[in-house]
Amino acid sequence: MSRESRVQQVSGVLVKFNMDRKPREKKILCVGLVCLDIINVVDKYPEEDTDSRCLSQRWQRGGNASNSCTVLSLLGAPCAFMGSLSAGPVANFILEDFQRFEVEVSLVTEHAQCCLPASMVISNIQTGSRTILHMNRNLPDVTAEDFTKVDLTQFKWIHWEGRNAEEQLKMIQRVDKYNSSLPQQQRIAVSVEIEKTREPLYQLFPHGDVVFVSKDVARQFGFHSAEDAVKGLYPRVKQGAVLICAWAEQGADALGPDGIVVHSDAFPPETVVDTLGAGDTFNAAVLYTLSNGGTLQEALTFGCKVAGRKCGFHGYDNIGECFGEK
Ligand code: ADP
Ligand code: FRU
Repeated sequence: MSRESRVQQVSGVLVKFNMDRKPREKKILCVGLVCLDIINVVDKYPEEDTDSRCLSQRWQRGGNASNSCTVLSLLGAPCAFMGSLSAGPVANFILEDFQRFEVEVSLVTEHAQCCLPASMVISNIQTGSRTILHMNRNLPDVTAEDFTKVDLTQFKWIHWEGRNAEEQLKMIQRVDKYNSSLPQQQRIAVSVEIEKTREPLYQLFPHGDVVFVSKDVARQFGFHSAEDAVKGLYPRVKQGAVLICAWAEQGADALGPDGIVVHSDAFPPETVVDTLGAGDTFNAAVLYTLSNGGTLQEALTFGCKVAGRKCGFHGYDNIGECFGEK
């Protein structure tokens, strides 16, 4: 009789089961944008109305939720992306890239008549800065109606990149309702990212167990540091929630229900070459840690380590080698 598979005789019925099989691991779902990033790498930021050459040019799958999925997958967390996509060659490039990084895409909705959003990115290797010009002509965001198709039993964590907040609130309500009938350890954790300085997004504050607020939003509220931001904005989150704010070279701070501000310094690489998606990388590494039962301090430190390392190379591929489980 093999170690993996044993046959038990129960009341005369043969029941075959695999002793080593783990129950199917629940996934992390990220809901938000996928777009095309056309990245122009330069060693000097161009002057207006000049004609210069780039060091290199590449296409990359972009969008906050999509980037966070890439990083989650590289770290070793099973994950899925939910968002909208167009049809055609650019959409195929995106789908193939999701596949390359083993991100599940069964919840992607195709809008054949629409154009895929795209960002022109100037990535300056002298400073690591990324200047983004983004355009979304007509691709709609995921709706609450789309979200009714999600089989919630597959997920342990759902992360929303704040976009169409009214619809997203309805999606979160569905998860809250699902959670209300379950014991604590089986509930789906909800996180939201409030990155853009758009008033409607601020209604998301009280709806995440974990809320990521960007330094841009913090500044708009008049805060000059991550610590001041988490303290000042904490009254907006729901009871028991954690509020997290990343602040580039200054690392990140967080505040939870115990009232203690947690901080991690940044972990700068030897040379900063590419900060595109640093925030999405940070979010993914934090979600990865928290969803595996890590503490808030562990999550912040890991978030800053992975995001800092990411800034030292182009794209995301090397994250797997540095931090991946596999
Ligand atoms: P974004 O602007 O992409 O949303 P942030 O600037 O908030 O991202 O940075 C997210 C995290 O990435 C920071 O907490 C930090 O750990 C890391 N990071 C970003 N820029 C740098 C940098 N220049 N040096 C080191 N770490 C950085
Ligand atoms: C990085 C990013 C890019 C995308 C842009 C959209 O955080 O997601 O990949 O082009 O932001 O705002």
